[in-house]
This record gives sequence, C-alpha cells and structure tokens, in this order.
Amino acid sequence: MAVHSLHHSNMIFCFSAFLLLFRGASAQLSSNYYATKCPRALSTIRTAVNNAVVKEHRMGASLLRLHFHDCFVNGCDASVLLDDTSSFTGEKTAGPNADSLRGFEVIDTIKSQMESICPGVVSCADILAVAARDSVVALGGPSWTVQLGRRDSTTASFTAANSEIPSPGMDLSDLLVGFSNKGFSAEEMVALSGAHTTGQARCVIFRERINKEANINSTFAASLKSNCPSTGGDDNLAPLDATTPVIFDNAYFKNLVNKKGLLHSDQQLFNGGSTDSQVTTYSNNPATFRADFANAMVKIGNLSPLTGSSGQIRADCRKIN
Ligand code: HEM
Ligand SMILES: *[C@@H]1O[C@H](CO)[C@@H](O)[C@H](O)[C@H]1NC(C)=O
Repeated sequence: MAVHSLHHSNMIFCFSAFLLLFRGASAQLSSNYYATKCPRALSTIRTAVNNAVVKEHRMGASLLRLHFHDCFVNGCDASVLLDDTSSFTGEKTAGPNADSLRGFEVIDTIKSQMESICPGVVSCADILAVAARDSVVALGGPSWTVQLGRRDSTTASFTAANSEIPSPGMDLSDLLVGFSNKGFSAEEMVALSGAHTTGQARCVIFRERINKEANINSTFAASLKSNCPSTGGDDNLAPLDATTPVIFDNAYFKNLVNKKGLLHSDQQLFNGGSTDSQVTTYSNNPATFRADFANAMVKIGNLSPLTGSSGQIRADCRKIN
C-alpha cells in the first residue's frame, strides 16, 4: 500500500510537473495568432519599425530594451507602457526606467495603426515583442519567430521594476541570480547581454567604471572621459558598443575580450570568471551568438504572458481601458 501510494503520488507529481513545464514554455501563445484575426498586423508593425529605425538607428535599441524591461517585470504584459496618473504609479519612474527608457511614441504610432486596421485585436504586449524582433533584424541581427496572443495588464509594479531588472553596478554573481530568478541559464544571460551591441548609456551609469575600475583599457577610458567629466554631464551618452554602435553583431563580445565593456555589468562577463569562455566563443563565432540570442529572445517573450480572458487588449497602450 505504501509503495502503491508512493508510486501514485509520484505519477501525480510528474504530471503536474509536466503541466507546469508545458504552461511555462508555451502558455497558449502561437506564431499564427493574428493570421485570421488581423492578417496585416505583422507587416504593418515591421514597416513602422523599419521607418523608425531608418529615421534614428538608436530606436532599434530602445524598442528592444522596452520588451526586455516589460517581460522582466510581471511578465510580458505591456505593464511598462502605462503612464503614471494622480492615482496610479506605473513602472516608468522606477530606477532602471526613469530618464532612460524610450520609444513610447513609436509604440503609440503602431498601436493607432493597429486600432485602425483591426480595432481591439492586437495587444500592446505583442506589439512590443514583434517590434523588438523587427528592430534586431533592422540592425542586421538574427530573426526569430515571435509567439503571439499576449494580452495587456491592468496593473503595473513600480516595486518589481526596481527589484527585478538587473542593475549595471552588479557583479557577475548577482547578475546570474537575477537571470536565474527568471528561469535563464548563465549561457542565456551571456547571449542576451549581446543586446548591448547597440544603443547607448548615460555618463551617470558608467562614470565610476571609467574613473575607478582597473579592468578597462586605459585609452578607451580616457576617450570616454572627454564627454563624461567627473562632475556634470550626467545625461551625456556613449555607445554600449563603440566599435559598431548601430549594427547588431558580435563586436560587443570582442570589446569585452579587449576590456572595452562600457558598463561594469558588461565587463563582469569577461573578468576571469565562469562566463569568460562563452564570451570568447561569441567573439569568434558570430553565427553561434546569433542563434543563441534568437532562442533566448523567444524565451524572454514567453515570460508569464496573460492569455485567455486575463487582462485586456488596451485601446491606448498608455492607459487601461
Ligand atoms: C545583463 C544585465 C543588464 C544590465 C545590468 C543592463 C543595463 C543597462 C543600462 C544601465 C543601460 C543604459 C541605460 C541608460 O544609461 O539610460 C542599458 C541599455 C540598453 N540595454 Fe541593457 N542591461 C542588461 C541586459 C539587457 C538585455 C537582456 C537586453 C535586451 C535583450 C538589453 C538591452 C539594452 C539596450 C538595447 C540598451 C540601449 C537602449 C537605448 O539606447 O535606448 N539589456 N542596459
Ligand atoms: C587599448 O586600446 C587601444 C586602442 O583603442 C590599443 O591601441 C591598445 O593597445 C589597448 N591597450 C591594451 C593594454 O590592450
């Protein structure tokens, strides 16, 4: 009897574990979600993203980051897009986002196009996921199939935005914990960090690194100081990948090998620790980086989406209906 019930509970355990895994992995999203509901959705988003990136290359980076910051805070539910009101505090003023996230106007433009071709159908969370993929492609990076069918939250979390998004002052061990908490391996974290092959950061974020750290090329540090003085100029920008700032390639990893990471957290990936060998691999094998990045982005997009009757399809990405 004891053996029998043990066996039985084991089976139940295995089955629930299977369900959990299955839900976590797919959660009812599908790549053809809009094929009949809004056939022109994906091509319309792609055109809008391409136009925005042609107009300003950095926009590709900004749109990619928006999706990441959405998904790491209570899942990919467009919570990051909600504006603060007198009675509501969203995520936009949280530390990692304030004076830093951008691209909201591009998402607004896309949303109004969606509402005119298919009112009430295409979620803001899906727009972010597709715009992130199209941005990477527009900058010469890899493509991937975006899973679709996410719905939009009616809530946001200022607290979670402050606690769940990794910060640039972190050492490798804390970065690993932050990504592991979201279900990502060290290898996936290194791949995803390759997003810093494009886009920019503010002086206030990298000032300490260029002035105080030892694992930085001194010529590189000196060149950054001209536009990032020891006081003032907090908002002055420098490219995260100074080699090819608006191309999505593997130069970020070559920079790390040469001690030319811009952020403390960047250089942590190549600082004598467990992730050094993977950084070296990516610095020599762009195709390996491309494939791993694409797979890890699909996984980011699958973080706790709202599906079925949860949440809503916002009419305006900045506010709940
Ligand atoms: C590994 C942990 C990470 C840390 C600590 C981190 C931190 C940062 C910081 C501090 C900035 C500059 C913000 C500013 O100065 O205003 C930045 C920019 C950026 N991050 Fe990350 N990030 C991380 C991972 C990621 C991931 C996983 C992605 C996307 C998959 C990403 C995409 C970007 C992009 C594209 C930019 C440039 C945005 C722009 O120019 O508008 N980051 N990140
Ligand atoms: C630092 O970078 C410069 C070029 O930016 C290079 O000439 C120099 O050799 C590098 N220094 C070291 C110690 O690698």
